[in-house]
Amino acid sequence: METFAKAHSPMLHELARTHGTPLYVYDMERIKRNFLSFKQAFSGRKSLICYALKANANLSILKLLAQLGSGADCVSIGEVRRALLAGIPRYKVIFSGVGKRDDEIEEALRENILFLNVESFEELKRIESIAKSLADSRTNPSPESTRARISIRVNPNIDAKTHPYISTGLHENKFGVDIDTAKQMYLYAHKSSMLEPVGIHFHIGSQLTELSPLIESSHKIAQLARSLVALGISLRFFDIGGGLGIRYDSETPIALYDYAQGILSTLSGCDWTIICEPGRRIVGDSGLLLTQVIGQKHTSQKRFVIVDAGMNDLMRPALYGAFHQPILLCENGAESSTTNPPMPADIVGPVCESSDVFCRDFALPEMQGGELIGFSNAGAYGHSMSSTYNARLRPAEVGIYTDENGAHAKLLRRAESFAESVQNELEALESNCPKTLESH
Ligand code: LLP
Repeated sequence: METFAKAHSPMLHELARTHGTPLYVYDMERIKRNFLSFKQAFSGRKSLICYALKANANLSILKLLAQLGSGADCVSIGEVRRALLAGIPRYKVIFSGVGKRDDEIEEALRENILFLNVESFEELKRIESIAKSLADSRTNPSPESTRARISIRVNPNIDAKTHPYISTGLHENKFGVDIDTAKQMYLYAHKSSMLEPVGIHFHIGSQLTELSPLIESSHKIAQLARSLVALGISLRFFDIGGGLGIRYDSETPIALYDYAQGILSTLSGCDWTIICEPGRRIVGDSGLLLTQVIGQKHTSQKRFVIVDAGMNDLMRPALYGAFHQPILLCENGAESSTTNPPMPADIVGPVCESSDVFCRDFALPEMQGGELIGFSNAGAYGHSMSSTYNARLRPAEVGIYTDENGAHAKLLRRAESFAESVQNELEALESNCPKTLESH
């Protein structure tokens, strides 16, 4: 990331001038390479990589992944719509999530996506009754077109050894069902004329850097899937979720080859298509959040470098204490001088929260204001988790594409404008009290 940022420093300055800061910039070539590495790792098996949109659902990124053959793992009907809009075929789209509304389930069934990952017995019965009403409303429905294809998310009760906010594979977490409940659900679905169990799923957490909990989970869930075969329920898809971590600081990411081989070792003799749902590992290290230094502030104890990006633009540091290495970008690409460095600084944003801190005690030269800093590895859960808190406007997104003619930038989403941000409320205001507005 640092090499990319420094090599493209003049272009990044130009982009910051054109589109303003804060600004997300993605290395599209890196996204492509990351996706192809996943495909390569599982190439010996029938497999489908379903990119997890929650990491970054920009349509241009989705389109690029669609062209490479990606499927989509979605957690809301909005994500399903985005995936389809970007050209990901419906038979590669799966819909997961612990709280699906009836209207979302109905739309997903109408769209005839690959399957829904079910999170509880209650949800299974809800899906069944929605599928039934859909079938009743159709004339001459064929069984294939009316049965809802489902997979069950099983919670293996295994500690993924990651941040507690993004750990999902323990029974204390809200996700999935235990093995006994899963068995009962499969038996129920198998007997139902409205449900077709086609897959089994687990996902134990995100930013995982230890392989053994994943392998242990896969082993446990494969055992369950084998026991289902013995009951006459044969599945087609073995969905191993996402969760592979990247290097933000000093972590050692799991090698994709070891991951794939480890998972495959638990599936010997089985013919299921493997589905995996990576998000962060595809886009995380492609993204840079560019921000401009507003100025410095000294207190008796501290030096603060204040930048124009805030926790609303990139909330991972405030929410998880995450580290996104700041890279000081000089216009000519040269390293900035660090002789006689001043006291380390906290890099902070303008949001009215004490948690609006990107990093603490970081070695930076004196800042005049106007310098450009890039927060690295911000491609995943950066823009997708951004908000408009403090009436701030969501930043623009730019992709850098590389071909035989070199690198060129394309705008993927322009920055939100103030007018756009108030349009909806102005309309409400106008229809609720037209006179008030006229008087202004
Ligand atoms: N599949 C399921 C069922 C998931 O819950 C998730 C992530 C993924 C796939 C993709 O996981 P990944 O490969 O990206 O680790 N906002 C947090 C991460 C939340 C992850 C939620 N689930 C962060 O910024 O670290």
